Amino acid sequence: MSTRPSGRSIAVEWYQRGALIDAITADAAERMLNAGEGLTEDLHLYLPCAIRAVRGGVGRAHLIDRDKDGGLLLEFFTHQGVGTVVSCDPLFGLREATVDDVGALVALISPLEADGTLVRRGRELLEQEIGRFSVVDHDGVLVGCAALYPFGEDGAAELACLAVMPEYRRAGLGDQLLKRIEQRARELGLERLFVLTTRTAQWFRERGFVESGVDDLPRQKLELYNYKRRSKVLVKAI
Ligand SMILES: CC(C)(COP(=O)(O)OP(=O)(O)OC[C@H]1O[C@@H](n2cnc3c(N)ncnc32)[C@H](O)[C@@H]1OP(=O)(O)O)[C@@H](O)C(=O)NCCC(=O)NCCS
Repeated sequence: MSTRPSGRSIAVEWYQRGALIDAITADAAERMLNAGEGLTEDLHLYLPCAIRAVRGGVGRAHLIDRDKDGGLLLEFFTHQGVGTVVSCDPLFGLREATVDDVGALVALISPLEADGTLVRRGRELLEQEIGRFSVVDHDGVLVGCAALYPFGEDGAAELACLAVMPEYRRAGLGDQLLKRIEQRARELGLERLFVLTTRTAQWFRERGFVESGVDDLPRQKLELYNYKRRSKVLVKAI
């Protein structure tokens, strides 16, 4: 069953720096069209039509490679698709989680719990702590999450359970989730964000975190620290 309701199909697709642009808003597409960089002749021809169509009320316009075998079927009958969708509103949405997201959250994080990347949380705990989660929704499917655990007395918060579905990685969603969690921590008046990680230390270092010691953890967190996991502690001033 299609999870990408059809707009109108156009026989081109759109790449930027070698990567397929999966979805774009009409406004962003128009900016890129006006800047004119890296657009093929086909795109100059068809993109204005796609923009006009969605602004005129068509739900979505799909740009699909005319040479791709089964391109239309793959675009409409797989969630990720193979072309570029132009729409008025963004297809990706960053929002706070609700209890309706628990099932999708379990599906997203359980493979990462199974391979030891994330600490195991039961469904019941997720239900209790759902308010701590921010999620990325792509066209009705939950594709990323992160949670904030504040330790107010220590002026600090933990960023936990950061995950993006493998097919959606390397598109900046991890970064956006991190920014959202930092924003939420700042709104609570907190000054430090820390993370415990066994495999992703470098990703956090590249985003301003520095390695710290277990002793720098808030006391309440220190009591729960699992020495067997040997997670690295990284901290960022926010
Ligand atoms: C870490 C994670 C959330 C990043 O999500 P993302 O949406 O791909 O993040 P971004 O698009 O913002 O960043 C992607 C960049 O991070 C790099 N990256 C991904 N995982 C990395 C890791 N473990 N170590 C170092 N760099 C990593 C990618 O190579 C990419 O770099 P590039 O653009 O130069 O090629 C995602 O890889 C993930 O879900 N990993 C498994 C869960 C995990 O490790 N969570 C952290 C535990 S606290």
